[in-house]
Parts: sequence; structure tokens; C-alpha cells
Amino acid sequence: MTTTETNEETPPSQNSKPRRVQGGEATSHVVLSAHIGGNADLFPDILHLHVPLGARIADVTWGRGVFWQRVAPDDYEVFPSDLKTGIDCRDLPYDDDSMDAVVLDPPYMEGLFRRSESHLAGGGSHAAFREHYSNGAETSTGPKYHDAVLDLYYRAGTEAKRVLRRGGVLIVKCQDEVSANRQRLTHVELINRFESEGFYTKDLFVVVRSNRPGMSRVITQVHARKSHSYFLVFQYVGEGKVEKAKSSPANPGIKLGPPPSASATPAAQAQDQLDLDTTS
Ligand SMILES: C[S@@+](CC[C@H](N)C(=O)[O-])C[C@H]1O[C@@H](n2cnc3c(N)ncnc32)[C@H](O)[C@@H]1O
Repeated sequence: MTTTETNEETPPSQNSKPRRVQGGEATSHVVLSAHIGGNADLFPDILHLHVPLGARIADVTWGRGVFWQRVAPDDYEVFPSDLKTGIDCRDLPYDDDSMDAVVLDPPYMEGLFRRSESHLAGGGSHAAFREHYSNGAETSTGPKYHDAVLDLYYRAGTEAKRVLRRGGVLIVKCQDEVSANRQRLTHVELINRFESEGFYTKDLFVVVRSNRPGMSRVITQVHARKSHSYFLVFQYVGEGKVEKAKSSPANPGIKLGPPPSASATPAAQAQDQLDLDTTS
């Protein structure tokens, strides 16, 4: 999958300078930055590229574990959690510096943060979407609209920083959105924020959906309809950790079970097929 490029140096002979020899092998089997298809296809490649085997990884917005469907069960020690299982990604039950990696994929669109449940995006025939992408509850306090999306990412990022060891990796899934008729490049906003918090943006992956998104209520199209999302890979390189006394019980790590057939699960179908019909 990946090539290892090494620059080996030959020992110096009496009259010659060291000669540089290129190592590695020619191949096109490398991990690419853009991928057409689902998250479950790309996620194992991101892990293999950026997280060492055997690492302790907290997936703090586990959902149905779609990301992990094609990850080998014994490759990592995984700590799954979600608001649905009673653990808020902004308040994790892990010690400081205890994780090698954190995976964060909270609801990425403002329509999933509304004061009233009846105003939440993804109702009716898109109920599976709402169910998969959020905990289905209204957001009663805090910032509104797109700022509510950012607020959750930012607070979860700060908490991830606390539990990550220095050099640890934060993998963030996000999608840009048009909010109140304005383009909000969420991935740029997250990069700016996390870089200011001591993270280095080590890699960026673009996931392009393979089916065409449907649109209803189109009068005049103003912005391109989103058909792509991102995995951002941050490495924690900075100082200034937030120390926190732990009182909550630990969330035990697991070895993943045998991966289910990705396309057969309702979650995978929701992720692959459903999207909200909004004018963007
Ligand atoms: C896009 S889904 C995650 C999908 C997941 N990556 C997967 O592979 O199945 C978003 C998840 O974030 C969870 N969530 C929402 N707010 C949260 C919070 N404050 N803390 C933890 N999880 C949260 C939702 O319950 C939902 O399961």
C-alpha cells in the first residue's frame, strides 16, 4: 500500500564523496489524498498511514462504527464512545496523555443543531440520516446554526488534546456547508482553530460521494452542491495541555469484532445513500 522511501548513503571511499542511493520500489500502490466512495473504504488507509499498529485509539463519536468496518480486529486497541452511550466527546473518561489517537466525527451540519426537535434536519423519509448523524435531540443552549457545529468540534478538539499524548494523532471528519446563504468552509475553520491550539495539520483527505446528491426546492442555484467531505489528520505537537481531574468511570477498550459487510448495514446505507435535500 505504501512505499518506504529511504535515502541510504554508501560508505565514503578514499577519493570519492558518499554516493546517495535511492531506496524503495516503484509502485502506484500508494495512499491517495482523494477517494471516491465511502468512509469505510478510506479509513483503514488513513490509520495505516498515520497511526502505528497496536495504538490506543478513542473513537469519541462512534455512531455505528462504520469507519471501523474494514479495520482488522487486532490492529488497534479501540475505545468506542458516543453521546448515545452516555459519553460526551467534550468530557471523556480517559486520563491525560493516555491515547495515541482520537477519532472525531460529530454532526457536521447546522440543521442537526436546532432548538426544537421538530426543526431538526433529516425528518420524514430521511429519518435514518438523522438517526445516524446525530443523537436526534434538540440543542437547547450554546451558539446557534453553523457556530453550534463549530462549537462542538472546538470543544471536542480541546478535550482530545487533553487525552492525547504529545505526538498523538487527531483524525477529524467534516464537511463544509452553506449556512444562512453563506459559504462556510468548515475544514478551513477547523484547521485554523486546531493549528492555534498546538496541532499540526499533517494530512487532508477528500472523500467524494459516488452517487449524485438529490436536490429539492431548487429555484436558483447559488453555490455548488456539496458532494465531498474531508478527513483531516492533526498531530498534537504543542504545549499548553488542559489538566483535568477524572471522576467518571473508565471506558474499557475493545478488540474489534469481525467486520460486518459494510454495504449491508443500515448505517452504511444511510451514509452512502442519504443526504439532505437543501438548496445550496
Ligand atoms: C456522523 S455520526 C458518527 C458516525 C461514525 N463515525 C460512524 O462511523 O458510524 C455523529 C455521531 O456523533 C454523536 N454525537 C453527537 N453529539 C455528540 C457529543 N457531544 N459527544 C459524543 N457524541 C456525539 C451522535 O450521537 C452520532 O452518533
